[in-house]
Formats: sequence, C-alpha cells, structure tokens
Amino acid sequence: MGDERVIALRNINLTFYEGEICCIFGASGSGKSTLLNLLAGMEKPNLGSILIDGTDITKLSENEMAAFRQRNIGFVFQGYNLLPALTAEENVAMPLMFYGLDRAKRQQAARAVLREVGLGDRIRHYPTQMSGGQQQRTGIARAFVAHPRIVFADEPTGNLDSKTTVEVMDMMVRFARQFRETLILVTHNPELAAYTDRIITLKDGEVIDDIYRNEEEKHAKH
Ligand SMILES: Nc1ncnc2c1ncn2[C@@H]1O[C@H](COP(=O)(O)OP(=O)(O)OP(=O)(O)O)[C@@H](O)[C@H]1O
Ligand SMILES: [Mg+2]
Repeated sequence: MGDERVIALRNINLTFYEGEICCIFGASGSGKSTLLNLLAGMEKPNLGSILIDGTDITKLSENEMAAFRQRNIGFVFQGYNLLPALTAEENVAMPLMFYGLDRAKRQQAARAVLREVGLGDRIRHYPTQMSGGQQQRTGIARAFVAHPRIVFADEPTGNLDSKTTVEVMDMMVRFARQFRETLILVTHNPELAAYTDRIITLKDGEVIDDIYRNEEEKHAKH
C-alpha cells in the first residue's frame, strides 16, 4: 500500500487432504481471506507455490486458472454474489455451462440441487425476491452443482441469523461428506469451527495452531 509494505501471510506450509472439512479461524485482519483467495487461485502469492493434485496453480495463466477453477473449485461468498439478472435456477446452472451439457440437462441438474437445499418452490425467483438465507442456499447449490473437488467458503454465514446459520452449515457439510469433497471455510465464529474436522488458526498472517478435533484422524493422515 503506497510506501507501506503489508505482509498478509508468511511461512504458510499446509497440506489439505481429500474430503477434509477444514476451518480457517482467526481475528479480523489475520489473513484468512487472503489465504482462501490464494488457495482458490483468485490471487497470486509473491513467493511460494500452491499445489492442487500436483498442479502448481501459481504458474497458471489467467485463462488456464479460470478453466482450472471451473473444473475443480466451488466458492461460497459471504455476500452470496448471485447474478441479479438471473433466476435461482439460472444462477445454479451457470457452472454447468463449462461441461458441454445442453440447456435442458443443466436446468434439470440445477432444479435437483435447488430441491435438495429446500428451494424447489423458488427456482424462478430472482435474488432480490429471496431472503438472505434463501440466497445463500442458492449460492451453496451453485458451489456444489458441478461436484468440484474443493469448495471454499469465506464467512458464508456472516450475514445470517443463528437459525439460518445452522441450516446453511449443515447443508454444506452434508454435501461435502456425501460426495467426499474437500470443504475449506473461513470464519471468526468459534461455533462454526465445531462443525469441522480440522481447525487452522491464523494470527498476523501466520499459522499458530492446526488441530484435528479427532486425534485418530490426524494420525491416519500424517
Ligand atoms: N489488497 C490488499 N492490499 C494491501 N493490504 C491488504 C490487501 N488485502 C488485505 N490486506 C491486508 O492483509 C491483512 C489480512 O487481510 P485479510 O482480508 O486476509 O484478513 P481477514 O482475516 O480475512 O479479516 P476479516 O475477518 O476482517 O475478513 C490485513 O492486514 C489487510 O489490511
Ligand atoms: Mg476476510
């Protein structure tokens, strides 16, 4: 920033395992969003590498990264980030555009996931015609519809009440477990951390703690 050098992350050395449900936890400004954006290929680090299944995503061009993301990555945003001109069904069908499926198949798949998140009766609604919780459930349907290898979520329940937070967390964890997808979620809410298998704590850009809630799981992997 101008003359001032901000180091958002340093000495990060982490391995995530397939099917793991992880939480990146820490105070505001600790570097959580920066880490998530790097892992999802939305930002590039100055130094270091980020390997996903052997591909160093820091070496990909913007186009290659976009293609890689479409094939492998889903993202759930705190502010939902639905396209306002599209219906729930059209928003959810979007990621399937890159799979060469015809329109009818995309609609069918989008409707099926929307039913699973309890929005079977809202498929033609536009984002402004839905509550925050409904918009986030649409966002989750969109993140999971193409069965990406990894789903990232940055404060996915940050704008929701406590009841809707529980519903949304249950939904993401259920989808991830059902299809053995890796889920990496950022939060500063300790209650959400309890849903996950592993809690990585950041402080001032460094990992200060990395614990598995079930010790056996850790030993099986390391
Ligand atoms: N584009 C940028 N340019 C300069 N500094 C940045 C930039 N993005 C983030 N930072 C700084 O990097 C640090 C980490 O920011 P980051 O957004 O990753 O924090 P966070 O843990 O996600 O916080 P929050 O919980 O408030 O979302 C902060 O000190 C922030 O000011
Ligand atoms: Mg953040």
